[in-house]
Amino acid sequence: MYRIAPSILSADFARLGEEVRAVVAAGADLIHFDVMDNHYVPNLTVGPLVCEALRPVTDVPIDVHLMVKPVDRIIPDFAKAGANMISFHPEASEHVDRTIQVIKDHGCKAGLAFNPATPLTYLDHVLDKLDFILIMSVNPGYGGQSFIPEALNKLRAVRRRIAGSGRDIWLEVDGGVKTDNIADIAQAGADTFIAGSAIFSSPDYAATLREMRGRLAQVRP
Ligand code: DX5
Ligand code: ZN
Repeated sequence: MYRIAPSILSADFARLGEEVRAVVAAGADLIHFDVMDNHYVPNLTVGPLVCEALRPVTDVPIDVHLMVKPVDRIIPDFAKAGANMISFHPEASEHVDRTIQVIKDHGCKAGLAFNPATPLTYLDHVLDKLDFILIMSVNPGYGGQSFIPEALNKLRAVRRRIAGSGRDIWLEVDGGVKTDNIADIAQAGADTFIAGSAIFSSPDYAATLREMRGRLAQVRP
């Protein structure tokens, strides 16, 4: 089962509600919500108030990607603002296991996000507690960057670990996902595709999502 999660980072922020409605009408499965703090990453985006404002706009799950340090204090605010899934970067947490627990205690699905150079050893002792894993295929901070091919090897390695766990852990890929590479990325093991510029810079969101699903339909299991 594949899911497509448009990242609102590339949406028109002056019309954010309309943009969310439009991608959901076009077939989005999740809304990916990038939170940047100009500290953990060199950019500044949106916080819980904007999440709360978007919550009534759609019923699809809101997938909050926290690129902030420290991370624990802001988690309850996003849970209250209607987030369904929350991921964070292990380098941004002093106590990774605790942060996962804070997310779950607030009723959200918990995800761990890996930068291109972050080792998968962070999974060793927490895999069984995770609901999803996010593999960054660009360095975090900006939309519109090119996919880093090494991410394919990482996705394969994570897919093996998920299979070994016997649990239904979602595997997200984030950064540089386009219609022309989505099939190769799926082949490497991703099941949830975050795409910002590929969708929001296209003239017809529904056509782009259809094209992505068409490419995914060609992937052999
Ligand atoms: C980058 C963000 C991504 C970003 C992806 O730090 O985490 O979600 O929006 O944008 P594209 O799809 O344009 O690479
Ligand atoms: Zn993201």
